[in-house]
Amino acid sequence: MISRRRLLAAGASTLAFPAQAQSVTSLKAVAAAKGFVFGSAAASYELKDADFVPLLLAQTAQLVPEYEMKRDALEIQPGVYDFAALDSLFAFARRGGLSMRGHTLVWYYANPKWLTPLLAARRDEKLLTGHIQAVLRRYPMESVDVVNEALAPPGTAARADGLRPSLWLDAFGPGYIDTAFHAARAAAPGTRLVYNEWGFEQGAVENDRFRATTLRFLDGLLKRGVPLDALGMQGHLSAFGNRVDQRKLRDFVAEIRARGLALLITELDVEDIGGPSDIAARDRAVADEARRFLDVVLDSPATQAVLTWNLSDRYVDAPDEWKLKLMGWRFRKTPYDTQMRRKPLWDAMAQAFAGRRVFY
Ligand code: XIL
Repeated sequence: MISRRRLLAAGASTLAFPAQAQSVTSLKAVAAAKGFVFGSAAASYELKDADFVPLLLAQTAQLVPEYEMKRDALEIQPGVYDFAALDSLFAFARRGGLSMRGHTLVWYYANPKWLTPLLAARRDEKLLTGHIQAVLRRYPMESVDVVNEALAPPGTAARADGLRPSLWLDAFGPGYIDTAFHAARAAAPGTRLVYNEWGFEQGAVENDRFRATTLRFLDGLLKRGVPLDALGMQGHLSAFGNRVDQRKLRDFVAEIRARGLALLITELDVEDIGGPSDIAARDRAVADEARRFLDVVLDSPATQAVLTWNLSDRYVDAPDEWKLKLMGWRFRKTPYDTQMRRKPLWDAMAQAFAGRRVFY
């Protein structure tokens, strides 16, 4: 037993720990016992929330910036960086003993306004690699999403190679992805390099096609010797829409493992739009869908991390959802409610984690 005095001496006195955060059970502890990391996305302003900080510290072993590592949040003018918010996230993680995951270096979205015209005019590879170096040399990270969402989403028209239109594709052609990974490896040899995507989890025909396209895409990278360590599977699930297909997901995870790649679940949350207004029923459906997903992905030794896209419904924030929020819809996507109480999703996660076979 650790005495209260020793806890205070260890610096815990500055935080008001809510009763449940003191519980011996934490998702990070259950995950660690089964050989993987549990973490969550967060933003720097959330670190001022005295209800929330104890939860993060008690429950998570890894942090990923929800948006403050995106390029539009960092590089305000060409070559001029504002690292203040990101510095505070990294400092928090260091003090709390959490590792960091990076998200994201190269994306079609969330770029500063000045970048597209400059890139089109110059086609200078340094506009790609310079940013990768600036971020990776400043921050130690366990893993990083080098490229995010380079493929055209399931169900949309795509080129033969499946790539999504983007400023990077326009400027450099498909080779921008290889260039980005090589630059990342050179800048941070000890960091796991990740390709991060969504659309693998569900059973629709367009997801079938997307899984096949992704495997071809990954095979191309590996054949060319691109330094890729892991696939990031975002895990944005939907309790009342396109549901997880366990058999197809299992086969896909086996394909990833067969390629020698690790699998990281990078942005787990469960959309509850379309569900009943009865909150208890919605919470149950959200929990069940997450459980169906986690039981499959955790049944492979390839899976080495699970991160939720925020830990509490207090901070559910997605660009398309503000209208629903205004109409009074209360999202129930994360393991804790807005009052920082555990929800059925938390229990489902803890049970799925605890039920994992030990592979290591
Ligand atoms: C979202 C964030 O949650 C929002 O706060 C932000 O406004 C837009 O981006 N896939 C990703 C994430 O890789 O970066 C996205 O995050 C959600 C979808």
